[in-house]
Amino acid sequence: MRAEIAQLLAMADTAVRQRQYGQALPMLSRALALDVEGVAPAYARLLAGMALTGWPEQLEADLVTCLHAGSVDPQTLARTAARMLLVKYPTLVVAEDALWAAFLTRCINVDPAMEARLVWLAGQALPAGLREALAVQAFASEYVWGGEGLGVPLAGAAEIEAERKLAENIPSLLPRPSPGKEEGKDRVVSEAVRAQYETNPYPRWRAPPVPHPVSIAQHLAALGAPQAEPLEILVAGCGTGFEPIDMARMDPLLAITALDLSAASLAYGQRMASRLGVDNVRFVQGDILDVAQLGQRFNLISSTGVLHHMERPDEGLAALTGALAPGGVLRIALYSERARAWVAEAHRAIAAQGWDIRTFRAHVLSLPADAPLARLRESDDFYTTSGCRDLCFHVREHWYRLPAIGEMLAVAGLDLLMLDAPPEAEARFAAMHGDADRHDLALWDAVEAAHPHLFAGMFHLWARKA
Ligand SMILES: C[S@@+](CC[C@H](N)C(=O)[O-])C[C@H]1O[C@@H](n2cnc3c(N)ncnc32)[C@H](O)[C@@H]1O
Repeated sequence: MRAEIAQLLAMADTAVRQRQYGQALPMLSRALALDVEGVAPAYARLLAGMALTGWPEQLEADLVTCLHAGSVDPQTLARTAARMLLVKYPTLVVAEDALWAAFLTRCINVDPAMEARLVWLAGQALPAGLREALAVQAFASEYVWGGEGLGVPLAGAAEIEAERKLAENIPSLLPRPSPGKEEGKDRVVSEAVRAQYETNPYPRWRAPPVPHPVSIAQHLAALGAPQAEPLEILVAGCGTGFEPIDMARMDPLLAITALDLSAASLAYGQRMASRLGVDNVRFVQGDILDVAQLGQRFNLISSTGVLHHMERPDEGLAALTGALAPGGVLRIALYSERARAWVAEAHRAIAAQGWDIRTFRAHVLSLPADAPLARLRESDDFYTTSGCRDLCFHVREHWYRLPAIGEMLAVAGLDLLMLDAPPEAEARFAAMHGDADRHDLALWDAVEAAHPHLFAGMFHLWARKA
């Protein structure tokens, strides 16, 4: 049976590449019927890449199956499901079916036309099941488009209560506020950043991470880092815990500390860790500036999308470097100035107009498709309150070019191990510089100058204590 499934998937893959969807779909259906959990991830990946214009019944049934499969992150199918529903119901009708239910309860909408449909639906008299499903959708998007009148779903209320209790008991390194004491600018910014994420923990992920083929231990060994047992890992600015939980699920022997300013974010992570049976992550509230107070040295410190939110990222980097064990490795991810140019434009417009999230989103949704800010509609973050706030309303944000990051690493006493570039950037580098030294950030900078969108997913760098 395995051979038959492999053959069906390979043939379907070829047909999808040639846009022969009519040929691909029956093959995918047959494979899915043979092994739902095994085939659903491949089916979902191919579906997400298809430009669908119709809704063949079998495909609809398969999509519902994939949306419920434990092996698939349903969010990867959010666009496909929304498109299919809008094709199936082109006019404003109240309809109840398995696809609506799966879409509303398993995905967060990321389609502007579907958002308009959701707003309309929320104003209609709905059958109880559909109303409940729409309430789940509104809660998951943090009421970014409205829907508060639908009420908080039972599961959502239970999550809020569980996180509230967990947040009260998370150990904290944060200094107690002392009235009358003048805080430095770095602490003032940390406090403003903390306040943002206490109100809107980000990201509010829901599907468990898909396991990676390469473990952290293997990755560190490949980078020449000294081996230790257990490997001590710090995720600095872990947010809602996706990364530490991902690492812990891959390797239960890792000893992971997950640090963040926001107790609400940590509580979200702790709730998800319990739900997923993860017990090797210790969640601690604290500022990266105080990381020495953990009294530990780490073999790996990972800080993704965090340092650029500090008043002085170089100070944060120095603090993290100080917490590395000899030969320890640091992984950081920082915003690219060029790739974020359009976000900078959003920041300017928001400051000039004094918009809040709702009025800003209404403006963006009303723009013609070719307006520069209309690009925001393609970002998944645009469709939740915490995501939109993180994307366009951040209280502090620095943007970088690669040579400046290289200087910052050198000043901190770190040697660059690698720039973890996406495949398209690797290909552009090879086309421009052949097999020149990939550690040379000036060469990468030239590649980015020619293709400013390449690092929209941030610069990801690995470095080692010199
Ligand atoms: C954009 S979120 C990224 C979360 C997570 N790293 C991820 O990739 O999903 C930034 C997180 O960094 C945290 N953060 C920002 N400055 C920090 C600091 N000085 N110390 C600790 N955490 C910080 C925030 O509280 C927030 O949860």
